[in-house]
Amino acid sequence: MSTLNLIHNTPLIFLDKISATLPGKIYAKAEHLQPGGSVKDRAAYQIILDAYDNGSLKRGQTVVEMTSGNMGAGLALVCRQFANPFVAVMSEGNSPERRKILSAFGAELVLTKQVDGSPGMVTGSDIALAVDVAKDIAQNRNAFYADQFNNPSCIMAHFNHTGPEIFRDLPDADIFIASVGSGGTFIGTSKYLKSVKPNIKCIVVEPEKAAILKTGKVDDPKHIIQGTAYGLIPPHWDEALADDFITVSDDEVMDMKKRLSSDQGLYVGYSAAANVIAAQKYLKAQAKPLNVVTVLCDSGYKYSD
Ligand SMILES: Cc1ncc(COP(=O)(O)O)c(C=O)c1O
Repeated sequence: MSTLNLIHNTPLIFLDKISATLPGKIYAKAEHLQPGGSVKDRAAYQIILDAYDNGSLKRGQTVVEMTSGNMGAGLALVCRQFANPFVAVMSEGNSPERRKILSAFGAELVLTKQVDGSPGMVTGSDIALAVDVAKDIAQNRNAFYADQFNNPSCIMAHFNHTGPEIFRDLPDADIFIASVGSGGTFIGTSKYLKSVKPNIKCIVVEPEKAAILKTGKVDDPKHIIQGTAYGLIPPHWDEALADDFITVSDDEVMDMKKRLSSDQGLYVGYSAAANVIAAQKYLKAQAKPLNVVTVLCDSGYKYSD
């Protein structure tokens, strides 16, 4: 077994404490247990495998990516296993923990200034600047640019693995709920689940003031759900996959993050909490008991609080 064998096949956990008073059950993929601490390990691994396969990446060639931290951790650890140097370009608005993690996994770290966000709240403009810097570095160093927002490998990772794992572990899933960053998790998993269960409903989670996929607009780009909802429509977005939308407030997310650790024993991050509070809100409005599956995207250890 190698480190890379730890990627994929996360447990599907029944959130019994959170579900106790609900008409239905919430199950969650424990992505915080991946070796890089997040769901993005899956996409990172697929990107590197596909790039070797199609010849766009050579042994020893440098890999560059713009990251909010999680893709960077995944790429850093995968690249190190294949002996490719890795440069992570990240907005300084992401938590300081993420800088430590990237460096610990052996990434060369380049930080970019915030344009209109604030510490802990990274906006689409902050991301756009980091993307420009990453592209420049890739060009100057003749490196492979991983390009998580445009790279179809990010979707295939979830179509080939996350979706089939959910169907294997809970064939009776009625609903899949997930927040959207690059969209890889939602798009790939939903596509697979709908291919084997045409009646399953796939629901998007968004911050209430940055619900661009639901409303087409952003009232306030700042929110605490790091790694998601950048106020842009992901390039591979397919609106036919989204059966519904649920919006969540920062306060609701913060409360659920605390509850998940204190009641359920799961110390996970903000997008994980957003997904679970959305699942709870959805179930509260249902008359019949349904099985909802969602994603615990990353570990709480990646944040300051
Ligand atoms: C903490 C966190 N949650 C959720 C996501 C969203 O995942 P995806 O890019 O597959 O939409 C990300 C993406 O980086 C993330 O870092």
